[in-house]
Amino acid sequence: MNKQKNIIEMKHIVKDFDGFKANDDLNLTLHQGEILALLGENGAGKSTLMSILSGLLAPTSGEIKVNGRQIAIVNPTVAKQLGIGMVHQHFMLAHSFTVLENIILGHETTKGPLLDLKQAREKVLALSEHYHLAIDPNQKVANITVAQQQRVEILKVLYRGADILIFDEPTAVLTPPEIKEFMHILKNLANEGKSIILITHKLEEIKKVADRVTIIRAGKDVGSYAVKDISNEKMAELMVGHPVTMKLAKAAVEPGKAILAVKDLVVKENRGTLAVKHLSFNVHAGEILGIAGIDGNGQDELVEAITGLRHSSSGEILIKDQDLANQAPRKITEAGVANIPADRQKYGLILQMSVADNLILQSYYQTPFSHHGIINFHQIKQHAQKLVKKFDILTPSIDLAGGELSGGNQQKVIIARELQRNSDLIIAFQPTRGLDVGAIETIHKQLLKEREQGKAILLVSYELSEIMALSDRILVLHNGEKSGVVKPEETTETELGLLMTGVKKEGKVVD
Ligand SMILES: Nc1ncnc2c1ncn2[C@@H]1O[C@H](COP(=O)(O)OP(=O)(O)OP(=O)(O)O)[C@@H](O)[C@H]1O
Ligand SMILES: [Mg+2]
Repeated sequence: MNKQKNIIEMKHIVKDFDGFKANDDLNLTLHQGEILALLGENGAGKSTLMSILSGLLAPTSGEIKVNGRQIAIVNPTVAKQLGIGMVHQHFMLAHSFTVLENIILGHETTKGPLLDLKQAREKVLALSEHYHLAIDPNQKVANITVAQQQRVEILKVLYRGADILIFDEPTAVLTPPEIKEFMHILKNLANEGKSIILITHKLEEIKKVADRVTIIRAGKDVGSYAVKDISNEKMAELMVGHPVTMKLAKAAVEPGKAILAVKDLVVKENRGTLAVKHLSFNVHAGEILGIAGIDGNGQDELVEAITGLRHSSSGEILIKDQDLANQAPRKITEAGVANIPADRQKYGLILQMSVADNLILQSYYQTPFSHHGIINFHQIKQHAQKLVKKFDILTPSIDLAGGELSGGNQQKVIIARELQRNSDLIIAFQPTRGLDVGAIETIHKQLLKEREQGKAILLVSYELSEIMALSDRILVLHNGEKSGVVKPEETTETELGLLMTGVKKEGKVVD
């Protein structure tokens, strides 16, 4: 196949949001049958550019050619007719509908006046088999995992006959084994002749699957490179504008008393089976305890129980010696617990509310933001301006709706709010999900600073490199039980991998 045929050409694209240029003279060329990575910092303008290509946003100026023909992609229907399909950063599925209904929604096959469900189902199953995208067409979307939801999104664009596929941070929500599988799917699609644009912050993924990379910085064009000719360090430097160290200096901290003590905890998952089975552990002041494990081994239920979002069946959750098992989330927050949740759109932010209001979600009723029931707008504004600066949140204004922030900047808002509240216990679930390498460095340094200030941190992450770099001790969860507690300097990723599959640690356990 001739890889040089330009299937998409975007030239001099500008997108102006009320005077703020999210895209400022961007160029992008996609060759037939290639995987092109689109790289840039949080808020650089990647999702905006792809929304323009898929007809969701109109560019302020610039031109687009598809297959050599200049065209105005005025709405998603036009994009669909051109064979362009996008899997969005935040999935757009209807949760109360089944998988099959979601895939065919808006693109129904009819038999006379009637919906031909049988034919639609057959077509979906054939696609699912052909691309190794395993799904259960009868399941309600509300009951399936994010990895499954993503497969539904991919099938949805394939069902519509797309041969130009855009993936906006598809791996941010996936666990390492799911990512591996997804990389295969991408390769398969490209081998079939599909042309793919992949947005990701993970440089190794670009190295693994992409042919070329287009880099943008603050809405501006930095250039396009063949992936085989560019190092990870160079990509990082081009995207942030200065060299990135990727190494952390961790100060020695003597741990203090236990801030969180979990004792013999039992928690059930939604269907009533045990998810956390008689688990006990402590997190001390000045310590980061990392929880490693394959997704679905009790991490969600454990954190939900600690933060008051899920009932625990038995056992104790002592926070500064006070048993807070089965207490309301607000009481737990007020006892000094910060929570950076895994699902930022579901639990972390109120998307319709402004950035400033999102930054005071749990403290709006307290001084200085409210006094005798009167809201102090000046304080709220000052607080927001301070945090936006301190945490490098990229936003045209503190009045912007949370949902209009770029994905990574939404995550920064949550982290800023939670760390600002000066809690003794910080629960961080995948805190750097969706963040660019520069922002990851900032957040990691921030968490280490909190540790030096004597905070107790419970870090749950599927990224072993993150667990290894930050933790003082690592507790490995398998099937709701502790399969080992190790120190990062005394273990390897291979040993952690074994513990994660349930091979128990013999001998010394550092508790
Ligand atoms: N509707 C809107 N109104 C105002 N500003 C917007 C709107 N949509 C996006 N922006 C701004 O445009 C900038 C670019 O956002 P975009 O979502 O394209 O970034 P991104 O590169 O995808 O970042 P991330 O990696 O964090 O997802 C951000 O600063 C964002 O706040
Ligand atoms: Mg984005």
